[in-house]
Amino acid sequence: MNDGRMRAPRTILLRPGADLTGFRDAARRLAAEGVPPEAVTWSLESAPSLFGSEAAPQADRPLSLPRAVAALIPQVVPHRDPERYGLLYALIWRALHGERHLMEVASDPLVHRLNLMAKAIGRDLHKMHAFLRFRRTTDDGDERYVAWFEPDHHILEAAAPFFVRRFAGMRWTILTPEGRAVWDGDALTYGPPGSRGDVPEGDGFEAGWQTYYETTFNPARVNPKAMRAEMPKKYWRNMPETASIPALLRGAAERTAQMIEREPTVPARREPARAVAAMADQDPKNLDELNAIIRRTEPLVPGATQAVLGEGPPGASVAFVGEQPGDQEDLKGRPFVGPAGQLLSRAMEEAGIDRGGSYLTNAVKHFKFTLRGKRRIHEKPTAGEVSHYRWWLDRELEFVAPKLVVALGATAVLALTGKAIPITRARGPFRFDRHETRFQGFITVHPSYLLRLPDEAKEEAYAAFVADLKRIATLGAELSA
Ligand code: URA
Repeated sequence: MNDGRMRAPRTILLRPGADLTGFRDAARRLAAEGVPPEAVTWSLESAPSLFGSEAAPQADRPLSLPRAVAALIPQVVPHRDPERYGLLYALIWRALHGERHLMEVASDPLVHRLNLMAKAIGRDLHKMHAFLRFRRTTDDGDERYVAWFEPDHHILEAAAPFFVRRFAGMRWTILTPEGRAVWDGDALTYGPPGSRGDVPEGDGFEAGWQTYYETTFNPARVNPKAMRAEMPKKYWRNMPETASIPALLRGAAERTAQMIEREPTVPARREPARAVAAMADQDPKNLDELNAIIRRTEPLVPGATQAVLGEGPPGASVAFVGEQPGDQEDLKGRPFVGPAGQLLSRAMEEAGIDRGGSYLTNAVKHFKFTLRGKRRIHEKPTAGEVSHYRWWLDRELEFVAPKLVVALGATAVLALTGKAIPITRARGPFRFDRHETRFQGFITVHPSYLLRLPDEAKEEAYAAFVADLKRIATLGAELSA
Protein backbone atom coordinates (compact mmCIF):
# COMPACT_ATOMS: atom_id res chain seq x y z
CA MET A 1 0.00 0.00 0.00
CA ASN A 2 2.69 2.52 0.99
CA ASP A 3 5.07 2.74 -1.92
CA GLY A 4 7.54 4.89 0.04
CA ARG A 5 7.11 7.99 -2.12
CA MET A 6 6.64 11.32 -0.39
CA ARG A 7 2.95 12.17 -0.19
CA ALA A 8 1.49 15.65 -0.19
CA PRO A 9 0.23 16.60 3.29
CA ARG A 10 -3.49 16.06 3.59
CA THR A 11 -5.96 18.03 5.64
CA ILE A 12 -9.16 16.33 6.65
CA LEU A 13 -12.03 18.46 7.81
CA LEU A 14 -14.48 16.77 10.10
CA ARG A 15 -17.78 17.85 11.60
CA PRO A 16 -17.46 19.35 15.07
CA GLY A 17 -18.48 16.93 17.83
CA ALA A 18 -18.23 13.20 17.29
CA ASP A 19 -17.95 12.65 13.53
CA LEU A 20 -17.71 8.88 13.50
CA THR A 21 -18.88 8.44 9.90
CA GLY A 22 -16.62 11.22 8.63
CA PHE A 23 -13.64 9.76 10.44
CA ARG A 24 -14.29 6.21 9.26
CA ASP A 25 -14.67 7.32 5.63
CA ALA A 26 -11.54 9.41 5.75
CA ALA A 27 -9.48 6.75 7.53
CA ARG A 28 -10.58 4.17 4.97
CA ARG A 29 -9.55 6.34 2.05
CA LEU A 30 -6.29 7.49 3.59
CA ALA A 31 -5.30 3.94 4.47
CA ALA A 32 -6.30 2.67 1.03
CA GLU A 33 -4.14 5.36 -0.56
CA GLY A 34 -1.26 4.56 1.77
CA VAL A 35 -1.17 7.99 3.41
CA PRO A 36 0.80 7.69 6.68
CA PRO A 37 -0.42 9.38 9.87
CA GLU A 38 2.33 11.98 9.89
CA ALA A 39 1.09 13.25 6.51
CA VAL A 40 -2.43 13.95 7.79
CA THR A 41 -3.78 16.96 9.63
CA TRP A 42 -7.16 16.43 11.25
CA SER A 43 -9.02 19.67 11.33
CA LEU A 44 -12.10 20.21 13.45
CA GLU A 45 -13.12 23.50 11.99
CA SER A 46 -16.83 24.03 11.75
CA ALA A 47 -17.17 22.76 8.21
CA PRO A 48 -18.40 19.52 6.75
CA SER A 49 -15.83 17.01 5.67
CA LEU A 50 -14.20 18.07 2.40
CA PHE A 51 -12.60 14.74 2.11
CA GLY A 52 -15.79 13.17 0.90
CA SER A 53 -15.50 15.12 -2.33
CA GLU A 54 -12.19 13.48 -3.23
CA ALA A 55 -12.84 10.53 -5.45
CA ALA A 56 -11.10 7.40 -4.25
CA PRO A 57 -12.24 4.14 -5.82
CA GLN A 58 -11.17 1.96 -2.91
CA ALA A 59 -12.95 4.10 -0.34
CA ASP A 60 -15.97 1.86 0.02
CA ARG A 61 -13.96 -1.23 0.77
CA PRO A 62 -14.02 -1.70 4.56
CA LEU A 63 -10.69 -1.87 6.32
CA SER A 64 -9.78 -5.23 7.72
CA LEU A 65 -9.06 -4.11 11.26
CA PRO A 66 -8.46 -6.26 14.34
CA ARG A 67 -11.72 -6.42 16.31
CA ALA A 68 -10.27 -4.60 19.34
CA VAL A 69 -9.17 -1.68 17.16
CA ALA A 70 -12.53 -1.47 15.39
CA ALA A 71 -14.31 -1.55 18.75
CA LEU A 72 -12.16 1.21 20.21
CA ILE A 73 -12.90 3.73 17.44
CA PRO A 74 -16.52 4.58 18.44
CA GLN A 75 -15.48 4.61 22.08
CA VAL A 76 -12.84 7.30 21.49
CA VAL A 77 -14.38 9.47 18.75
CA PRO A 78 -16.72 11.29 21.22
CA HIS A 79 -13.73 12.43 23.33
CA ARG A 80 -13.11 16.16 23.54
CA ASP A 81 -9.36 15.87 22.93
CA PRO A 82 -8.65 17.46 19.49
CA GLU A 83 -5.90 14.89 18.94
CA ARG A 84 -8.29 11.94 19.08
CA TYR A 85 -8.64 11.43 15.32
CA GLY A 86 -4.89 11.64 14.72
CA LEU A 87 -4.25 9.13 17.50
CA LEU A 88 -6.89 6.74 16.19
CA TYR A 89 -5.55 6.94 12.67
CA ALA A 90 -2.04 6.22 14.00
CA LEU A 91 -3.49 3.14 15.72
CA ILE A 92 -5.21 2.01 12.53
CA TRP A 93 -2.04 2.54 10.54
CA ARG A 94 0.04 0.46 12.92
CA ALA A 95 -2.57 -2.31 13.04
CA LEU A 96 -2.52 -2.47 9.23
CA HIS A 97 1.26 -2.40 9.01
CA GLY A 98 2.46 -5.43 10.91
CA GLU A 99 1.13 -4.76 14.43
CA ARG A 100 -2.24 -6.54 14.38
CA HIS A 101 -1.95 -7.43 18.05
CA LEU A 102 -0.95 -4.02 19.34
CA MET A 103 -4.11 -3.67 21.44
CA GLU A 104 -2.78 -6.50 23.60
CA VAL A 105 0.17 -4.32 24.63
CA ALA A 106 -1.60 -2.19 27.22
CA SER A 107 1.68 -0.47 28.13
CA ASP A 108 2.16 0.87 24.60
CA PRO A 109 1.84 4.67 25.06
CA LEU A 110 -0.62 5.07 22.18
CA VAL A 111 -2.79 2.14 23.30
CA HIS A 112 -2.65 3.34 26.91
CA ARG A 113 -3.71 6.86 26.00
CA LEU A 114 -6.57 5.71 23.79
CA ASN A 115 -7.76 3.26 26.47
CA LEU A 116 -7.86 6.11 28.99
CA MET A 117 -9.90 8.18 26.56
CA ALA A 118 -12.36 5.31 26.04
CA LYS A 119 -12.70 4.96 29.82
CA ALA A 120 -13.45 8.66 30.17
CA ILE A 121 -16.23 8.29 27.59
CA GLY A 122 -17.63 5.29 29.47
CA ARG A 123 -17.74 7.34 32.69
CA ASP A 124 -19.35 10.29 30.94
CA LEU A 125 -22.03 8.03 29.44
CA HIS A 126 -22.71 6.45 32.80
CA LYS A 127 -23.16 9.89 34.37
CA MET A 128 -25.54 11.00 31.64
CA HIS A 129 -27.60 7.82 31.91
CA ALA A 130 -27.77 8.07 35.69
CA PHE A 131 -28.08 11.80 36.35
CA LEU A 132 -30.20 13.16 33.51
CA ARG A 133 -33.64 14.24 34.75
CA PHE A 134 -36.62 14.88 32.49
CA ARG A 135 -39.16 17.58 33.31
CA ARG A 136 -42.68 17.42 32.05
CA THR A 137 -44.06 20.12 29.82
CA THR A 138 -47.21 20.53 27.79
CA ASP A 139 -47.33 22.53 24.60
CA ASP A 140 -50.75 22.82 22.98
CA GLY A 141 -51.97 20.11 25.33
CA ASP A 142 -49.27 17.70 24.11
CA GLU A 143 -47.19 16.17 26.83
CA ARG A 144 -43.40 16.15 26.36
CA TYR A 145 -40.43 15.60 28.60
CA VAL A 146 -37.40 17.83 28.38
CA ALA A 147 -34.00 17.47 30.01
CA TRP A 148 -30.90 19.61 30.08
CA PHE A 149 -27.50 17.97 30.41
CA GLU A 150 -23.89 19.14 30.05
CA PRO A 151 -21.69 16.15 29.28
CA ASP A 152 -17.90 16.46 29.42
CA HIS A 153 -17.51 14.96 25.94
CA HIS A 154 -19.43 14.77 22.66
CA ILE A 155 -21.59 11.86 23.78
CA LEU A 156 -25.14 12.90 22.91
CA GLU A 157 -25.48 10.51 19.97
CA ALA A 158 -23.84 7.66 21.86
CA ALA A 159 -26.07 8.22 24.91
CA ALA A 160 -29.46 8.79 23.27
CA PRO A 161 -30.32 5.15 22.32
CA PHE A 162 -30.27 4.24 26.03
CA PHE A 163 -33.07 6.77 26.68
CA VAL A 164 -35.04 5.41 23.71
CA ARG A 165 -34.93 1.94 25.28
CA ARG A 166 -35.78 3.25 28.74
CA PHE A 167 -38.44 5.81 27.85
CA ALA A 168 -39.83 4.46 24.60
CA GLY A 169 -43.38 5.37 25.57
CA MET A 170 -42.66 9.06 26.29
CA ARG A 171 -41.98 11.87 23.83
CA TRP A 172 -38.80 13.59 24.99
CA THR A 173 -36.04 16.01 24.09
CA ILE A 174 -32.57 16.08 25.57
CA LEU A 175 -30.88 19.45 25.26
CA THR A 176 -27.14 19.95 25.55
CA PRO A 177 -24.88 22.92 24.76
CA GLU A 178 -23.86 21.16 21.51
CA GLY A 179 -27.08 19.74 20.16
CA ARG A 180 -30.35 18.08 20.98
CA ALA A 181 -31.79 14.56 20.68
CA VAL A 182 -35.51 14.31 20.01
CA TRP A 183 -37.63 11.15 20.42
CA ASP A 184 -41.19 11.41 19.11
CA GLY A 185 -42.21 7.88 20.05
CA ASP A 186 -41.10 6.48 16.67
CA ALA A 187 -37.91 8.11 15.51
CA LEU A 188 -34.81 9.59 17.09
CA THR A 189 -33.50 12.77 15.45
CA TYR A 190 -30.80 15.29 16.29
CA GLY A 191 -30.96 19.05 16.07
CA PRO A 192 -29.47 22.33 17.23
CA PRO A 193 -28.25 23.07 20.78
CA GLY A 194 -30.56 24.32 23.50
CA SER A 195 -30.06 26.10 26.76
CA ARG A 196 -30.89 25.37 30.35
CA GLY A 197 -33.58 28.06 30.13
CA ASP A 198 -35.52 25.92 27.62
CA VAL A 199 -36.28 23.38 30.33
CA PRO A 200 -39.26 24.08 32.62
CA GLU A 201 -38.21 24.80 36.19
CA GLY A 202 -40.70 22.88 38.29
CA ASP A 203 -43.11 20.26 37.05
CA GLY A 204 -44.44 18.49 40.11
CA PHE A 205 -41.87 15.71 39.64
CA GLU A 206 -39.53 17.51 42.05
CA ALA A 207 -41.40 16.45 45.14
CA GLY A 208 -41.48 12.88 43.88
CA TRP A 209 -37.77 12.73 43.18
CA GLN A 210 -37.05 14.28 46.54
CA THR A 211 -39.33 11.83 48.34
CA TYR A 212 -37.69 8.97 46.50
CA TYR A 213 -34.21 10.17 47.36
CA GLU A 214 -35.05 10.81 50.99
CA THR A 215 -36.70 7.42 51.46
CA THR A 216 -33.81 5.54 49.81
CA PHE A 217 -31.03 7.58 51.47
CA ASN A 218 -29.28 5.45 54.05
CA PRO A 219 -27.54 7.68 56.62
CA ALA A 220 -25.50 4.75 57.96
CA ARG A 221 -23.87 4.25 54.57
CA VAL A 222 -23.09 7.87 53.87
CA ASN A 223 -19.62 8.67 52.55
CA PRO A 224 -19.66 12.25 51.29
CA LYS A 225 -16.32 11.95 49.48
CA ALA A 226 -17.34 8.85 47.51
CA MET A 227 -20.74 10.42 46.92
CA ARG A 228 -19.22 13.53 45.36
CA ALA A 229 -16.87 11.42 43.23
CA GLU A 230 -19.81 9.36 41.98
CA MET A 231 -22.22 12.28 41.59
CA PRO A 232 -20.09 15.41 41.01
CA LYS A 233 -21.65 18.66 42.14
CA LYS A 234 -21.90 20.03 38.60
CA TYR A 235 -24.82 17.63 37.97
CA TRP A 236 -26.71 18.61 41.10
CA ARG A 237 -28.25 21.70 39.54
CA ASN A 238 -30.33 19.54 37.18
CA MET A 239 -31.34 16.93 39.73
CA PRO A 240 -34.26 17.95 41.95
CA GLU A 241 -33.48 15.34 44.57
CA THR A 242 -30.05 16.81 45.30
CA ALA A 243 -31.76 19.74 47.03
CA SER A 244 -32.13 17.31 49.94
CA ILE A 245 -28.48 16.27 50.10
CA PRO A 246 -26.99 19.00 52.33
CA ALA A 247 -29.74 18.56 54.93
CA LEU A 248 -29.55 14.78 54.75
CA LEU A 249 -25.79 14.88 55.22
CA ARG A 250 -26.11 17.23 58.18
CA GLY A 251 -28.64 14.92 59.84
CA ALA A 252 -26.88 11.66 58.91
CA ALA A 253 -25.02 11.09 62.21
CA GLU A 254 -28.13 11.70 64.28
CA ARG A 255 -30.32 9.52 62.07
CA THR A 256 -27.76 6.71 62.21
CA ALA A 257 -27.81 6.80 66.00
CA GLN A 258 -31.61 6.66 65.94
CA MET A 259 -31.53 3.75 63.50
CA ILE A 260 -29.20 1.77 65.76
CA GLU A 261 -31.56 2.25 68.69
CA ARG A 262 -34.60 1.41 66.60
CA GLU A 263 -33.11 -1.50 64.66
CA PRO A 264 -34.90 -4.43 66.38
CA THR A 265 -38.32 -2.95 65.69
CA VAL A 266 -37.77 -1.77 62.10
CA PRO A 267 -40.12 -3.80 59.87
CA ALA A 268 -38.37 -5.88 57.22
CA ARG A 269 -40.74 -4.94 54.42
CA ARG A 270 -40.10 -1.89 52.30
CA GLU A 271 -41.75 1.37 53.22
CA PRO A 272 -44.09 2.60 50.51
CA ALA A 273 -43.26 6.07 49.23
CA ARG A 274 -45.78 8.61 50.39
CA ALA A 275 -46.57 9.98 46.97
CA VAL A 276 -49.27 7.53 45.93
CA ALA A 277 -51.31 8.27 49.03
CA ALA A 278 -51.67 11.83 47.79
CA MET A 279 -53.32 10.76 44.56
CA ALA A 280 -56.81 10.56 45.99
CA ASP A 281 -56.72 14.37 46.33
CA GLN A 282 -56.56 14.66 42.56
CA ASP A 283 -59.68 14.95 40.53
CA PRO A 284 -59.05 13.81 36.95
CA LYS A 285 -61.86 14.60 34.54
CA ASN A 286 -60.94 12.07 31.89
CA LEU A 287 -58.54 9.24 31.06
CA ASP A 288 -55.81 11.59 29.79
CA GLU A 289 -55.83 13.59 33.00
CA LEU A 290 -55.76 10.40 35.04
CA ASN A 291 -52.85 9.06 32.99
CA ALA A 292 -50.95 12.30 33.48
CA ILE A 293 -51.30 11.85 37.26
CA ILE A 294 -50.19 8.23 37.09
CA ARG A 295 -47.20 9.14 34.94
CA ARG A 296 -45.88 11.75 37.30
CA THR A 297 -46.43 9.83 40.52
CA GLU A 298 -43.50 8.01 42.03
CA PRO A 299 -43.66 4.21 42.09
CA LEU A 300 -44.87 2.82 45.37
CA VAL A 301 -41.78 0.66 45.49
CA PRO A 302 -38.75 2.46 44.01
CA GLY A 303 -36.97 0.97 41.01
CA ALA A 304 -39.41 1.03 38.10
CA THR A 305 -38.37 2.92 34.98
CA GLN A 306 -41.76 4.39 34.31
CA ALA A 307 -45.46 3.89 34.92
CA VAL A 308 -47.05 1.53 32.43
CA LEU A 309 -50.46 2.88 31.50
CA GLY A 310 -53.45 1.04 30.16
CA GLU A 311 -53.64 0.74 26.39
CA GLY A 312 -56.58 0.52 24.04
CA PRO A 313 -59.52 2.59 22.86
CA PRO A 314 -61.68 4.19 25.56
CA GLY A 315 -65.10 2.66 25.09
CA ALA A 316 -63.60 -0.75 24.24
CA SER A 317 -66.20 -3.39 25.03
CA VAL A 318 -63.75 -5.66 26.88
CA ALA A 319 -61.03 -4.58 29.34
CA PHE A 320 -58.36 -7.04 30.47
CA VAL A 321 -56.71 -6.43 33.84
CA GLY A 322 -53.34 -8.08 34.58
CA GLU A 323 -51.13 -7.93 37.64
CA GLN A 324 -48.28 -5.49 37.05
CA PRO A 325 -45.88 -4.67 34.21
CA GLY A 326 -42.94 -7.04 33.78
CA ASP A 327 -39.35 -6.28 32.83
CA GLN A 328 -40.09 -5.69 29.12
CA GLU A 329 -43.21 -3.67 29.83
CA ASP A 330 -41.26 -1.50 32.26
CA LEU A 331 -38.61 -0.74 29.65
CA LYS A 332 -40.99 -0.21 26.76
CA GLY A 333 -43.70 1.59 28.71
CA ARG A 334 -46.49 -0.61 27.29
CA PRO A 335 -48.57 -3.35 28.90
CA PHE A 336 -48.33 -6.99 27.89
CA VAL A 337 -45.45 -6.79 25.44
CA GLY A 338 -43.16 -9.34 27.16
CA PRO A 339 -43.42 -13.16 27.04
CA ALA A 340 -46.74 -13.36 28.95
CA GLY A 341 -48.17 -10.58 26.77
CA GLN A 342 -47.12 -12.38 23.60
CA LEU A 343 -48.83 -15.55 24.80
CA LEU A 344 -51.94 -13.54 25.61
CA SER A 345 -51.93 -12.00 22.10
CA ARG A 346 -51.66 -15.44 20.51
CA ALA A 347 -54.51 -16.85 22.59
CA MET A 348 -56.67 -13.77 21.89
CA GLU A 349 -56.12 -14.18 18.19
CA GLU A 350 -57.07 -17.88 18.36
CA ALA A 351 -60.21 -16.93 20.27
CA GLY A 352 -61.13 -14.28 17.70
CA ILE A 353 -60.53 -11.27 20.00
CA ASP A 354 -59.04 -8.18 18.42
CA ARG A 355 -56.26 -7.09 20.80
CA GLY A 356 -56.14 -3.61 19.27
CA GLY A 357 -59.85 -3.13 19.92
CA SER A 358 -59.59 -4.27 23.55
CA TYR A 359 -58.36 -2.34 26.57
CA LEU A 360 -55.37 -3.83 28.43
CA THR A 361 -54.18 -2.62 31.79
CA ASN A 362 -52.73 -3.74 35.10
CA ALA A 363 -53.80 -3.67 38.73
CA VAL A 364 -50.42 -2.16 39.65
CA LYS A 365 -48.85 0.35 37.31
CA HIS A 366 -45.16 -0.04 38.17
CA PHE A 367 -42.78 -2.99 37.86
CA LYS A 368 -41.67 -4.37 41.21
CA PHE A 369 -38.60 -6.58 41.21
CA THR A 370 -35.59 -7.85 43.07
CA LEU A 371 -32.15 -7.83 41.51
CA ARG A 372 -30.42 -11.15 40.99
CA GLY A 373 -27.04 -10.22 39.59
CA LYS A 374 -28.00 -8.02 36.67
CA ARG A 375 -31.40 -9.68 36.20
CA ARG A 376 -34.57 -8.01 37.42
CA ILE A 377 -36.75 -10.72 38.86
CA HIS A 378 -40.48 -9.99 39.06
CA GLU A 379 -41.78 -9.73 42.60
CA LYS A 380 -45.47 -10.15 43.34
CA PRO A 381 -47.13 -6.99 44.70
CA THR A 382 -48.41 -7.26 48.26
CA ALA A 383 -52.12 -6.86 49.08
CA GLY A 384 -51.27 -3.43 50.53
CA GLU A 385 -49.62 -2.35 47.30
CA VAL A 386 -52.56 -3.59 45.24
CA SER A 387 -54.96 -1.59 47.37
CA HIS A 388 -52.79 1.55 47.03
CA TYR A 389 -53.07 1.32 43.25
CA ARG A 390 -56.76 0.41 43.29
CA TRP A 391 -57.88 4.03 43.18
CA TRP A 392 -56.25 4.40 39.79
CA LEU A 393 -57.72 1.20 38.42
CA ASP A 394 -61.22 2.14 39.56
CA ARG A 395 -61.02 5.58 37.91
CA GLU A 396 -59.51 4.08 34.79
CA LEU A 397 -62.32 1.54 34.37
CA GLU A 398 -64.92 4.20 34.99
CA PHE A 399 -63.42 6.34 32.20
CA VAL A 400 -62.97 3.44 29.77
CA ALA A 401 -66.44 2.08 30.63
CA PRO A 402 -66.06 -1.41 29.16
CA LYS A 403 -69.03 -3.76 29.01
CA LEU A 404 -66.97 -6.64 30.37
CA VAL A 405 -63.93 -6.62 32.67
CA VAL A 406 -61.64 -9.64 32.58
CA ALA A 407 -59.43 -10.38 35.59
CA LEU A 408 -56.26 -12.19 34.52
CA GLY A 409 -55.03 -14.00 37.63
CA ALA A 410 -55.32 -13.59 41.37
CA THR A 411 -53.84 -10.10 41.72
CA ALA A 412 -56.37 -8.68 39.29
CA VAL A 413 -59.16 -10.46 41.17
CA LEU A 414 -57.89 -8.96 44.43
CA ALA A 415 -57.78 -5.49 42.84
CA LEU A 416 -61.28 -5.81 41.38
CA THR A 417 -63.05 -7.45 44.30
CA GLY A 418 -60.95 -6.41 47.31
CA LYS A 419 -60.84 -10.11 48.25
CA ALA A 420 -58.32 -12.91 47.82
CA ILE A 421 -60.42 -15.39 45.87
CA PRO A 422 -58.75 -18.53 44.46
CA ILE A 423 -58.99 -18.62 40.66
CA THR A 424 -59.91 -22.31 40.69
CA ARG A 425 -63.06 -21.45 42.67
CA ALA A 426 -64.15 -18.37 40.81
CA ARG A 427 -63.05 -19.02 37.22
CA GLY A 428 -65.72 -17.92 34.75
CA PRO A 429 -68.33 -15.10 34.74
CA PHE A 430 -68.28 -12.94 37.87
CA ARG A 431 -69.88 -9.68 38.96
CA PHE A 432 -67.44 -6.93 40.04
CA ASP A 433 -69.67 -4.69 42.11
CA ARG A 434 -67.23 -2.71 44.24
CA HIS A 435 -67.40 0.07 41.69
CA GLU A 436 -69.85 2.90 41.36
CA THR A 437 -70.34 1.50 37.90
CA ARG A 438 -70.86 -2.22 38.38
CA PHE A 439 -69.08 -4.36 35.89
CA GLN A 440 -69.97 -7.67 34.44
CA GLY A 441 -66.72 -9.56 34.84
CA PHE A 442 -64.93 -12.75 33.95
CA ILE A 443 -62.15 -14.41 35.90
CA THR A 444 -59.46 -16.50 34.26
CA VAL A 445 -55.80 -17.38 34.78
CA HIS A 446 -52.89 -15.07 34.12
CA PRO A 447 -50.91 -15.99 30.97
CA SER A 448 -47.66 -16.08 32.98
CA TYR A 449 -49.17 -18.99 34.94
CA LEU A 450 -49.23 -20.95 31.67
CA LEU A 451 -45.59 -20.12 31.03
CA ARG A 452 -44.59 -21.48 34.44
CA LEU A 453 -46.37 -24.84 34.04
CA PRO A 454 -44.35 -28.01 33.31
CA ASP A 455 -44.32 -28.80 29.59
CA GLU A 456 -46.69 -31.77 29.88
CA ALA A 457 -49.40 -29.60 31.49
CA LYS A 458 -49.05 -26.62 29.18
CA GLU A 459 -51.12 -27.78 26.22
CA GLU A 460 -54.25 -28.56 28.19
CA ALA A 461 -54.03 -25.39 30.28
CA TYR A 462 -53.52 -23.28 27.17
CA ALA A 463 -56.57 -24.85 25.50
CA ALA A 464 -58.65 -24.06 28.60
CA PHE A 465 -57.39 -20.47 28.51
CA VAL A 466 -58.35 -20.10 24.83
CA ALA A 467 -61.77 -21.60 25.66
CA ASP A 468 -62.20 -18.92 28.37
CA LEU A 469 -61.26 -16.23 25.88
CA LYS A 470 -63.83 -17.55 23.42
CA ARG A 471 -66.51 -17.27 26.12
CA ILE A 472 -65.25 -13.75 26.83
CA ALA A 473 -65.56 -12.87 23.13
CA THR A 474 -69.15 -14.11 23.06
CA LEU A 475 -70.08 -12.41 26.31
CA GLY A 476 -68.45 -9.14 25.21
CA ALA A 477 -70.38 -9.21 21.93
CA GLU A 478 -73.66 -9.98 23.72
CA LEU A 479 -73.18 -7.19 26.25
CA SER A 480 -72.37 -4.64 23.55
CA ALA A 481 -75.26 -5.62 21.31
N1 URA B 1 -47.97 -9.36 33.28
C1 URA B 1 -48.94 -8.49 33.60
O1 URA B 1 -49.77 -8.75 34.46
N2 URA B 1 -49.02 -7.35 32.94
C2 URA B 1 -48.17 -7.02 31.98
O2 URA B 1 -48.30 -5.93 31.43
C3 URA B 1 -47.18 -7.96 31.65
C4 URA B 1 -47.08 -9.13 32.32
